[in-house]
Amino acid sequence: MNPYLSQLHPYPFEKLATLKQGITPPAEKPHIALSIGEPKHATPHFIQEALLQHLHGLTQYPTTKGLLELRQTIADWTCRRFGIPAGGVDAETQVLPVNGTREALFSLVQAVIDPAEKPVVIMPNPFYQIYEGAALLAGAEPYYLNTVEADGYLPDFDSVPEAIWQRCQLMFICSPGNPTGTVLSKADHLKLLALADQYDFVIASDECYTELYDDEANPPQGLLQSAYQAGNTDFKRCVIFQSLSKRSNAPGLRSGFVAGDAEVLQQYFKYRTYHGCPMPVPTQHASIAAWNDEEHVKHNRQLYRDKFTAFIEILQDVCDISQPPASFYIWLKTPISDTEFARELFAQQNITVLPGSYLSRDSGGINPGANHVRIALVAPIEECIEAAQRIKTFINSLS
Ligand SMILES: Cc1ncc(COP(=O)(O)O)c(C=O)c1O
Repeated sequence: MNPYLSQLHPYPFEKLATLKQGITPPAEKPHIALSIGEPKHATPHFIQEALLQHLHGLTQYPTTKGLLELRQTIADWTCRRFGIPAGGVDAETQVLPVNGTREALFSLVQAVIDPAEKPVVIMPNPFYQIYEGAALLAGAEPYYLNTVEADGYLPDFDSVPEAIWQRCQLMFICSPGNPTGTVLSKADHLKLLALADQYDFVIASDECYTELYDDEANPPQGLLQSAYQAGNTDFKRCVIFQSLSKRSNAPGLRSGFVAGDAEVLQQYFKYRTYHGCPMPVPTQHASIAAWNDEEHVKHNRQLYRDKFTAFIEILQDVCDISQPPASFYIWLKTPISDTEFARELFAQQNITVLPGSYLSRDSGGINPGANHVRIALVAPIEECIEAAQRIKTFINSLS
């Protein structure tokens, strides 16, 4: 068997299941899950309709490149969303549809990494675990770049040793961040772009939460936006990952895209052809409908905004809690260890949250996820309110 398989870590939810094993929570309190980042708002009807209307497309083998109509829709959306002049993203060479970003985050690394060169893949810490698995299975060494409170939960690029930059072939950024909800600025992107030029690596920018933001007047900056503004109009060394899962409440559709550097995408396209992962034609049509509509996304943002407001209002006098600029997560500091907090909260209140240390690794002498839990505000607002009240009772019981 592939020896790298043995290096893969158990997934955070396996660890969570083990943590909860043997505990019987109070039966009179219905369970509330705030642990999984799976959107629970309804998938818009028009997206479902578009899928149904194109079911006859099942008679065709889809192509790896996807329909031009989909790629053009994606290219146009990317330009509109990130302030790039129309035509600034080429549907032929700078866009590929993917079956959700998860598989793409994994497979891009397999296409990019040259295992002969002692490669390093840099990733934020805590992080979405696919980054690490992708690096390990590609034969690269992960470098965990801590995001800690003192730095506003943002990565400190200056802390990366020169020897690591020298070996870096790919760097993941996640903005808005899972689990922190923090957003990288244009200045952060420009600094990273300069480093990518200097040390010759690809920036893989996971942007699957960019459409879930609080301030309608201030949507999160995207990497292609920063690159374009800085004159890197070919998006050299940049690949972004976008998804309909969170934006359009369609995690089951399995639809997203990658866009950016045509040279990287050409090689990645070759990889994907062999990997055999084209997007089914009906899914492509549903995706065209979804990318062409912003009203449902605006409505979606309002649903999350209402939940954040209600949740924080209940908890603000018992803990240090605030709304992040984007995402649907609260990255909450815990007064006791994160695993104990999660276990006891489940035992006493039948609420599941995810211990932060399950999303991170020891690095630089600390575990940056320790003493935090990730709370995903995905449940309906009534459940979020009920959860906040029970968490308040729980926190009060600790003092
Ligand atoms: C940071 C991050 N990236 C990527 C994904 C994958 O999303 P999808 O494959 O549904 O596009 C997730 C899902 O939770 C995520 O949290």
